Amino acid sequence: MTELPGGPSLPQERRLVTSIPGPKSQELLARKTAAVAAGVGTVLPVFVTRAGGGVVEDVDGNSLIDFGSGIAVTSVGNSAGAVVKRAAEQLERFTHTCFMVTPYEGYVAVAEQLNELTPGDHEKRSALFNSGAEAVENAVKIARAYTKRQAVVVFDHGYHGRTNLTMALTAKNMPYKHGFGPFAPEVYRMPLAYPYRWLTGPENCAEEAAAQAIDQITKQVGPENVAAIVIEPIAGEGGFIEPARGFLPRIAEFAGDNGIVFVADEIQTGFCRTGEWFACEDEGVVPDLITTAKGIAGGLPLAAVTGRAEIMDAAHAGGLGGTYGGNPVACAAALGAIETMRELDLNAKAKRIEEVMKGRLLALQDKFDVIGDVRGRGAMIAIELVEPGTKDPNPAAAAALAKACHAEGVVVLTAGTYGNVLRFLPPLVIPEELLVEGLDILENAFSNL
Ligand SMILES: Cc1ncc(COP(=O)(O)O)c(C=O)c1O
Repeated sequence: MTELPGGPSLPQERRLVTSIPGPKSQELLARKTAAVAAGVGTVLPVFVTRAGGGVVEDVDGNSLIDFGSGIAVTSVGNSAGAVVKRAAEQLERFTHTCFMVTPYEGYVAVAEQLNELTPGDHEKRSALFNSGAEAVENAVKIARAYTKRQAVVVFDHGYHGRTNLTMALTAKNMPYKHGFGPFAPEVYRMPLAYPYRWLTGPENCAEEAAAQAIDQITKQVGPENVAAIVIEPIAGEGGFIEPARGFLPRIAEFAGDNGIVFVADEIQTGFCRTGEWFACEDEGVVPDLITTAKGIAGGLPLAAVTGRAEIMDAAHAGGLGGTYGGNPVACAAALGAIETMRELDLNAKAKRIEEVMKGRLLALQDKFDVIGDVRGRGAMIAIELVEPGTKDPNPAAAAALAKACHAEGVVVLTAGTYGNVLRFLPPLVIPEELLVEGLDILENAFSNL
């Protein structure tokens, strides 16, 4: 039986004993400012000592409700029992050999799990890496090796990472790209079916956006030059934008018809986050390749590309890898995380979180006209904030609400191309009372806006 995440010693409660951040966190923040590069920002400078279940405890003894999961990572909770147990056992046995030098079973076992869990019952292979960006880079390498083509198509509002190629794939300039160019070539960006902001309204959004994207690919790039179409099934950093239903299947079909590798970037949406193992299952889309990271290993750095055997095997031997890719401790943690997801049925938990959150947030939307849109699936829920009576983005409201929640001990994150989205990514194991308490605090913050 999987042990409850967080361990029995970590009380599942919000507890504020100082202002946020407290004096000890402020001392550490001064040290951080003096020692850490300014470009490495911090959303909420409370310095953490322990975390688990639905809470994060800081150096001043405060216990905060976690609506962030370290950006969609600790879906099984921090220090989840099975993750700790398996990783600790692995730490005792060996920490690294480099899978490319002398391999080990854990890597193979994670690849087997990925091949089984990802959509489609075709023959699959997986390759493991360290970060989401690295997985996306490798998906592009693999697609280029298979198709012998160069162009990569991505979408507006997309986020794929901070390395040179993935910066090029990412849509938003500030803060991800500004001043960091030149970027990798042969990247083409197409419109995304963003129902809330589609000019002719949401009804024909999927059809019109897909037609525009296909027209632009055809005219500007030529489908025969496109190696890969890379898309998030729900745009994460872009503001939890669920493409209008029908858009993803249409783009996947176009890729299939034209020999283009269809890559679903499920780095944020994967591993039960949206109430399904993978978000593209929602519309029955079977990607050729799928990139995963974040939730895969309960907080340890691990990422993967999984997909059709003939595509994955197209890269020559030695062409894929990296010193630490598929580190044995991270692989052990992933096996523990996947075991926890299965045993605790975290897909069901994510669906319940959606029910509770959406119910409350839709009621808030009726009350506060600064809420333009409530959206998302499972435990990946967001509200888009606007100037009342318009659809003009209201980033100031998002910042003010986040600040108010932080001061009251709730960790929330902002997102969105216009910085006007408040997003909620609680650990899937969060106790329901904490979820409700966090939402009460959010409601209060709206009342005081
Ligand atoms: C959809 C998506 N792709 C790629 C990445 C990059 O992952 P990493 O930060 O692990 O490099 C992220 C991270 O937020 C993401 O959400």
